[in-house]
Amino acid sequence: HRDLLGIGQLERHEILFLLDEAEQWVDLNRQTTKHSDALAGLTIINAFFENSTRTLLSFEIAGKRLGADVVNMHAAQSSVKKGETLIDTAITLNAMRADAIVIRHGSSGAVDLIASKVDCPVLNAGDGQHEHPTQALLDALALRHALRERGHKADDFTGLTVTICGDILHSRVARSNILCLTALGASVRICAPPALMPAEIEAMGAKPFHDFDAALEGTDVVMMLRLQTERMEGQFIPSAREYHHLFGLSKDRLQRAAPDALVMHPGPMNRGVEIDSEVADMIGRSIITRQVEMGVAIRMAALDVLTRRTRGIDGWTNDGSG
Ligand code: CP
Repeated sequence: HRDLLGIGQLERHEILFLLDEAEQWVDLNRQTTKHSDALAGLTIINAFFENSTRTLLSFEIAGKRLGADVVNMHAAQSSVKKGETLIDTAITLNAMRADAIVIRHGSSGAVDLIASKVDCPVLNAGDGQHEHPTQALLDALALRHALRERGHKADDFTGLTVTICGDILHSRVARSNILCLTALGASVRICAPPALMPAEIEAMGAKPFHDFDAALEGTDVVMMLRLQTERMEGQFIPSAREYHHLFGLSKDRLQRAAPDALVMHPGPMNRGVEIDSEVADMIGRSIITRQVEMGVAIRMAALDVLTRRTRGIDGWTNDGSG
């Protein structure tokens, strides 16, 4: 591959390859001298047309820890506000001869469109309700590390049950995670209110639930997602109180899951709505901070792997099939 547009474009062995590549950066990021010069002389543009804290900062840190020059384009301060089209913006970025472009955009498919117009690798940092591939990869890496500490030997998730609960309809994180977790062997349960449940859950290999207590029964991992009210214009928006009552993860509710079940959330969290603070901060159970830590390693791996051809290193994957 030249680009990283979605988990849907990756084979299982390619997902595992990216996770394995990220392992070296987990170790480096824990050292005091955090630097590599693998990408020295390359320019990476982060073009974000939607708000971000974790993804934007971790791509910037990842690029800098690899020695690249990183520049950020915030749509709110760009000429997009003066009416420039997406394609003209892409042509403009291309003319600056970036070596990789990282894009977040509010429209599903916008990142694919830009990828078709530029000469360098494009990395999807979240496009509308479609995909957020580096989020699913960092979630898988965080889960792998937490399971390893508990004695889990396999590198994949065969035999594991993961329950994802929240606003699935609007969630690119849910979509990418369903694809990634099922590819790695996990059984995935999806829980959402009927109005926020997409039609294709079973076709994607996951099991839909509307009752959160039933979805939690015996699950090994619970991944909570926020209500994306910014994508609900004109739709019925449940009140925070009633949503919490039916779909919020409280300490009591977590007891339905397997003993020691792990708790995940991609952030940003709405504490007291989809997740209670005492669960989000539960030592030994919540791996939310570790997810953020793994985000830097995964983005370093993605930038490194996708720029290998530019740097005269063969292929996207080890076997050269990419
Ligand atoms: N999880 C995630 O994508 O967070 P940001 O929106 O802060 O980047």
